[in-house]
Amino acid sequence: MLKYIALYCFIITLLNQIKTNYALPTELQEETYRVQNNSHISKQLRTTKLCTTNNDLRLYIPYSAVKFFWSGFGVADSDKVAAEIARSVAEKDGKKGVTLEMLLDFRENTHIQGCKSNISMTPQCQQFWENLSCEYATRVTGEIRIILGSKLNPEDRWFKIEKPTLDSRRSNGQDLWGFKQYELEPVYCKDMATHDTSIPQIKNEICQKNS
Ligand SMILES: *[C@@H]1O[C@H](CO)[C@@H](O)[C@H](O)[C@H]1NC(C)=O
Ligand SMILES: *[C@@H]1O[C@H](CO)[C@@H](O)[C@H](O)[C@H]1NC(C)=O
Ligand SMILES: *[C@@H]1O[C@H](CO)[C@@H](O)[C@H](O)[C@H]1NC(C)=O
Repeated sequence: MLKYIALYCFIITLLNQIKTNYALPTELQEETYRVQNNSHISKQLRTTKLCTTNNDLRLYIPYSAVKFFWSGFGVADSDKVAAEIARSVAEKDGKKGVTLEMLLDFRENTHIQGCKSNISMTPQCQQFWENLSCEYATRVTGEIRIILGSKLNPEDRWFKIEKPTLDSRRSNGQDLWGFKQYELEPVYCKDMATHDTSIPQIKNEICQKNS
């Protein structure tokens, strides 16, 4: 009898593990937005060399949080937009969402002396963000999600550094999963239409076409 109870518990635990670790196909269909017409970008991606990092920045990345990558928003304060979306969509699943920029505000990352991404980039600042992106994409584990805007550019760090690194690690069977993809406008302007924002002007700028 006890044997059967133990077996039952084991199966339930296993099913729960599967549920938390792999998004169900129905969920994916609801929330996956495809970025259209990026064939020229995929072509470029196939020839991109992987970035390398010595992990000099010692970026702390919490395993339990959902790690977001984002690109192509084309507005000022894009990092704040990404943060609002990351928090909101992860919260819906009872999880904590973080972006790379949000991680820099963590106590564990105060040793990282960055440069603000919104002022015009000096070459050194550009290099800093490339180094940081490489470390993020190379060391991140656990659940990954992606938010893409329509202003995607093959020169973005997402395409040059993060995507190739994630794709390569994922195909090597590393502990990375999820990869649910959101498109900026539907998620920010429809799903989050009534959600509080700290940047109303930017939200209007992104959403005016849709209103
Ligand atoms: C996709 O991009 C190509 C070249 O960039 C363009 O000629 C084509 O019209 C685009 N297709 C759509 C559906 O936007
Ligand atoms: C950059 O961001 C800071 C803080 O978020 C803000 O005070 C500043 O005005 C921004 N600068 C530009 C050029 O947008
Ligand atoms: C970027 O990383 C390289 C190699 O790890 C290092 O030599 C360089 O100083 C870093 N640059 C910045 C701006 O952090």
